[in-house]
Amino acid sequence: MRIDIITLFPEMCEAVLRESIIGRARNKGIVSLVCHQLRDYAHDKHHRVDDSTYGGGMGMLMMAEPIALCFEDLCQTLNTRPHFIYLSPKGTTLTQEKVRELAQYDNLALLCGHYEGVDQRVLDSFVDEEISIGDYVLTGGELPALVLADSICRMVPGVLSDDLCFEEESHYHGLLEYPQYTKPAEWRGQMVPDVLLSGHHANIERWRREQALLETAARRPDLFKMLILDEKDKRFLREKGVL
Ligand code: ADE
Repeated sequence: MRIDIITLFPEMCEAVLRESIIGRARNKGIVSLVCHQLRDYAHDKHHRVDDSTYGGGMGMLMMAEPIALCFEDLCQTLNTRPHFIYLSPKGTTLTQEKVRELAQYDNLALLCGHYEGVDQRVLDSFVDEEISIGDYVLTGGELPALVLADSICRMVPGVLSDDLCFEEESHYHGLLEYPQYTKPAEWRGQMVPDVLLSGHHANIERWRREQALLETAARRPDLFKMLILDEKDKRFLREKGVL
């Protein structure tokens, strides 16, 4: 997986991407993340990338040409055309399902917007899709691009330890996570639930599923509605008054 990020703030992106799990995956060569300074593709003497909007209105727009030149240069360097995503509050809201879909690409390019947006013509000619990370507006596309890159990279085999990968794709799918505890067994008068200290793996698995069902029902009724429940689940949820 290679992700190229086109941005006015490559140092901001690098500061995040060199750390922690993604930083380690990059050092191991499992994923490749490359940040490009868009200003390098503005060929006037001030390296200008923005201008005022036609038709009036406040604020500036990112110009089409530097973005086009940067993307064309990238296609030439890679010898392929990456799937090109513009991070925008107008885009389709990101979900785990979308992350899984995007993780199938070998090459992605992410465009981080600034100012009031981007000239529509470059979006129409080059961009494959627009993605939003939620219904709120940020000052630029860098944080959304980093969120997207992080969520995709953690799906790449070898980035997470095997058991974490398993958890992501297995029976926890569609459920919020159950509560978790670590040492000490008693903390400020609060005990870890007995079942977790019992060493009885089947009971622990059952307890975790039930807790995950309760968490999902309480916090995310929209996800809960989509769940496929077996008879055991239904019996438990009826007992708890959830069904
Ligand atoms: N740019 C500004 N806000 C954004 C958002 N919520 N998602 C994606 N890109 C953005």
